[in-house]
Amino acid sequence: MKILVTGGGGFIGAWIVRTIICGGHTPVVLDRADDRRKVVEIAGSDIASGLEWIATDIADTDAVVTAAKGCHRIIHLAGLLTPACKADPVLGARVNLIGTLNAFLAARAHGMPSVVYMSSAGVFGPDGNAEPHPVTLYGAFKLASEHSARAFMEDSGIASIGFRPYVVYGPGRDGGLSAGPTLACRAAARGEAYTMPITGAFDMIHVKDVAAAFLDAVRMPLTDAHVVNLIGHRATAEEVVSSIRNAVPGARIDCAGEPIPIDSPRSDAALETLFPRWTPIGVDDGLRATIDFYRETL
Ligand SMILES: NC(=O)c1ccc[n+]([C@@H]2O[C@H](COP(=O)([O-])OP(=O)(O)OC[C@H]3O[C@@H](n4cnc5c(N)ncnc54)[C@H](O)[C@@H]3O)[C@@H](O)[C@H]2O)c1
Repeated sequence: MKILVTGGGGFIGAWIVRTIICGGHTPVVLDRADDRRKVVEIAGSDIASGLEWIATDIADTDAVVTAAKGCHRIIHLAGLLTPACKADPVLGARVNLIGTLNAFLAARAHGMPSVVYMSSAGVFGPDGNAEPHPVTLYGAFKLASEHSARAFMEDSGIASIGFRPYVVYGPGRDGGLSAGPTLACRAAARGEAYTMPITGAFDMIHVKDVAAAFLDAVRMPLTDAHVVNLIGHRATAEEVVSSIRNAVPGARIDCAGEPIPIDSPRSDAALETLFPRWTPIGVDDGLRATIDFYRETL
């Protein structure tokens, strides 16, 4: 299967590209620039140099439809993270909302039955998680994308899964509001001091689990517009610090600042139904693997 991966040059995208290839399929990357450094870091230079790569703007409808020609499925990740949406709301809407519409329009133009895309736990607000109630523009655009996916199911019969992870961590994460746990692992591996700029509790999911869920999802015969709280393990910033200090005695890691304004989703019927064998990597193991990765690449 040939799979178009929008945002394939980013952190999660690079892991998904690697996972798609390991699964025997062929990724085609769409990203705003032909910058393969993240894929080199995660998947190696042989894979990176052999990739079909389309450098274009996800907000350009015609270009996205053209890029999807010959592909059997779309994994849609391209997007701006919370700080970038706050800094430029109109650009945030173009990339995150129009970009999602374009992924679905491309799927429709080429007769694809489904799209798998990245939503976010950012659809939830700070006060409980029964119903989405975002307090960030990023969360608002993600929620609008989910509603749009439902409309594409209704109007055009395109099924979908929108995943809602909270903090995705692991090798290669270096941007966004919640990059702290990964940057702390990198600093500990390098013997550097680092203060995570977040406190409080959040759900943490290792990027390998996220990538595996995406590949499983594109292989599924879907018949509805699903959204899935992609739950890992709940931890506090303080627990992350202590786990890293256990793995690297003497690590100069701490945390300070405000909690992230999103409550952690805790259970999800869609996850249990669609992914009955879901067993995400534990936080201690995931952090240790991240530290080991950075030690090996020193
Ligand atoms: N990292 C997390 O913790 C997390 C959690 C929930 C959801 N997500 C979502 O996962 C997706 C990937 O996030 P990530 O952490 O890999 O971020 P990232 O910034 O590493 O990757 C995003 C990619 O999108 C590309 N992109 C941005 N604007 C574009 C444009 N106009 N046209 C084409 N490509 C463009 C970037 O170049 C980048 O390669 C995003 O949709 C993000 O909202 C991430």
